[in-house]
Amino acid sequence: MKKIFDRIEKALINGEWISAKSHLDVINPASREKIGIIPNLGPQETIQAINAASAAFPAWAKTPPIERANLLWRWHDLILKNKTELASLISLENGKSLSEAQGEIEYSASFVRWFAEQARRVDGDTIQLDQAEKRVFTIKQPVGVVGAITPWNFPSAMITRKCAPAFAAGCTVVLKPSDLTPFSALALAKLAEEAGFPKGVFNVITGDAQPIGLTLCEDARVRKISFTGSTRVGQWLMAHSADTVKRLSLELGGNAPFIIFEDADLDNALAGLMASKFRNSGQTCVCANRVLVHEKVYASFVEKLIPAVNNLTVGSALLEEKTQVGPLINQAGLDKVNRLVQDAINKGASCVAGGKVLNEFSGFFYSPTILVDVTAEMVIFQEEIFGPVVALYRFKEEAEAIELANNTSVGLAAYFYSQNPARIFRVAESLQSGMIGINTGIVSSVSAPFGGIKNSGLGKEGSKYGIEEYLQIKTLCWDIS
Ligand code: SIN
Repeated sequence: MKKIFDRIEKALINGEWISAKSHLDVINPASREKIGIIPNLGPQETIQAINAASAAFPAWAKTPPIERANLLWRWHDLILKNKTELASLISLENGKSLSEAQGEIEYSASFVRWFAEQARRVDGDTIQLDQAEKRVFTIKQPVGVVGAITPWNFPSAMITRKCAPAFAAGCTVVLKPSDLTPFSALALAKLAEEAGFPKGVFNVITGDAQPIGLTLCEDARVRKISFTGSTRVGQWLMAHSADTVKRLSLELGGNAPFIIFEDADLDNALAGLMASKFRNSGQTCVCANRVLVHEKVYASFVEKLIPAVNNLTVGSALLEEKTQVGPLINQAGLDKVNRLVQDAINKGASCVAGGKVLNEFSGFFYSPTILVDVTAEMVIFQEEIFGPVVALYRFKEEAEAIELANNTSVGLAAYFYSQNPARIFRVAESLQSGMIGINTGIVSSVSAPFGGIKNSGLGKEGSKYGIEEYLQIKTLCWDIS
């Protein structure tokens, strides 16, 4: 067993690490064993955290950007210094492979570095008016206290993708991490404390999501909610934020089409699909969900895909270093994947690889699976799979592929493979998604805007746009006559 970063079983309010009488168990999804507990906090503690964040806000907002940047740099360096242990912690509580977990820590640190650089580049404008006697300037100011609600699939990176731009902009944060993977968040908060962040700037509340989320939404002092998770919860947060007219960044569910045209390089398409589909055992919002393959290359693509999927090493990341595919996060995740596969088979799809719960493991494991002859009538077409299942559809015409791809209420990521430049522009412009992978299966990077359209959410994370989500523009209109 690898050395693991200490599991911190406390929440953080105003620089104090607190426990509670009531607690929640945290489980290792690879073994179903309990790995620790976290305080089960509620509205009262959430309000205390908002009090702390509100009290810390004026001084933090006025702190010179270079000082905020220096603190972010120190946090960044500490994250990388502890990379191996933080990665093991991710694998322990989330189940992803060690190499992916290490990649996540680098991804996580990259947001802190990026926004440390951005902190000093927040500039307003000088604007010409039609009236000769007036001048207009804009300044950008931090929005205020931010409620950040983060998911279990990236226990570290989604925290820094939200908190680093918030801190860089001058906002203070109340973070509610997933209760399935809280230890990575608490470790990050500990490192921020070690870096020297003033008390009250970074608060972490653990417990049941709903009462904490509702308190964050209803409190008028929280000026922004940033959430990554399901569309259903995003809509709920939006509805409950209406009375206080909050800013919202919502990174919600996807149903990514992955289109392989007849002119695609099939080996590249295979490599891209394996990277996109099996990242985090299929549990990312941008994983390929519906693989649409042109009928002329369908059979040859399936022939290449079967050995690639059958060769994946499934296992417990911390016991087996060569693990590529870990468990699903919990029983509900496992049941959902099984239900989608069974529904597709019952409606006429065939399973040519995998297709079963792996009962030989004690954790929530599902075999890497390929379904062929899937159609739009099957439930798997509309629902995000969130598991290691490749669902293959056949198409004849480009227009048909685009129509199928867009036939969903969400639009986060889409991918396609083609070597025809005219088609590349046509298809990229027609797909209704916030991010398009062209001859690549990975679109995520610190410098590229991340976010969806339609029911996949609002706003962009990372990139030069990420910090804007935490800033508001103030117009200064000056009569000089
Ligand atoms: C997500 O699945 O929510 C994030 C994935 C990524 O950043 O690549």
